[in-house]
This record gives sequence, C-alpha cells and structure tokens, in this order.
Amino acid sequence: MAVTRTFSIIKPDATRRNLTGAVTKMLEDAGLRVVASKRIHMTREQAEGFYAVHKERSFFGELVDFMISGPVVVQVLEGEDAVKRNRDVMGATNPADADEGTIRKTYAESIEANSVHGSDSDENAKTEIEFFFAEDEIVG
Ligand code: RTP
Ligand code: MG
Repeated sequence: MAVTRTFSIIKPDATRRNLTGAVTKMLEDAGLRVVASKRIHMTREQAEGFYAVHKERSFFGELVDFMISGPVVVQVLEGEDAVKRNRDVMGATNPADADEGTIRKTYAESIEANSVHGSDSDENAKTEIEFFFAEDEIVG
C-alpha cells in the first residue's frame, strides 16, 4: 500500500474543549504522521470557499458559522492509504452512528460539531492541502 497524504481539521468544538492533543494522539495511534500543522481562525470567506461543494446543502450556513466560531487546527497527515486510514479512525459523520474507538464516537458533540474533518479522496486531499498550506510548510 502506498504512503499518501490527507488533510485534517480539528474543529472548533474540539479546540474549545482543549482536545487538540487527544485527537492528534488518536490520529498518530492509527498510523498517521502529522507532517504539517497550524492553528488558525478561519475567515468566513475561507470557510465558504473550503466548503463550497456543500453550498446547496441545507446546513451550509450553519456549518460555516460553526467552523468560524473558534480556532481550528489544520493538518496534513501522511501514512499508508492515508485518506481511508483517517476516515476509519474519524468514524461516521453522525457520532450516534460512529463505531466505538473512533474520534467522533469518543469526542463529537453532534452531527455538526463532530470534532474532525478528513478528506474523502486523494484528489480532494490534494486540493484541500493546497487550500491551506504552501509546499515548504509540509515536512515529511
Ligand atoms: P467532513 O467533510 O467534515 O470530514 O465530514 P463528512 O465527510 O463526514 O461529512 P460531510 O457530508 O462532508 O459534511 C460536512 C460537515 O457538515 C456538517 N454536517 N452537518 N446538520 C447536518 O445535517 C449536517 N450534516 C453534515 C458536519 O460537520 C460534517 O462533518
Ligand atoms: Mg466531507
């Protein structure tokens, strides 16, 4: 299996509860390596741009409001089959449906305040990484 990269966000509900380290440990324990990381407070324009694929969804406005409600930690993760590996440890979008031992089952507050984002394909991972990071900020 090839070593690949994915993009992760530790969302405002998790930074508010001081869970940056706890969430990162679960990512690392799942075999992912943090090769870039920064704490930012997204602007509305950044959040709307990042979630543009969801702009027709009913929850778009609330999602943007939530994502700018506090700081987030954006990360690039590296590992074997990183996109799937990360999605597996994140768990289902709705924590009520997430498996035991996943980040969302352990920490998420709701379907919206669900603690983490992870890219859903290699192609989207590349786009999302480039949205937040310059190449020289990523050190593998
Ligand atoms: P993500 O993009 O954050 O990794 O999550 P995901 O793929 O599991 O979920 P997605 O369908 O892409 O939805 C993006 C984010 O929107 C919020 N959401 N709210 N109120 C709702 O019904 C609802 N559904 C989704 C969540 O924060 C979700 O992670
Ligand atoms: Mg998604």
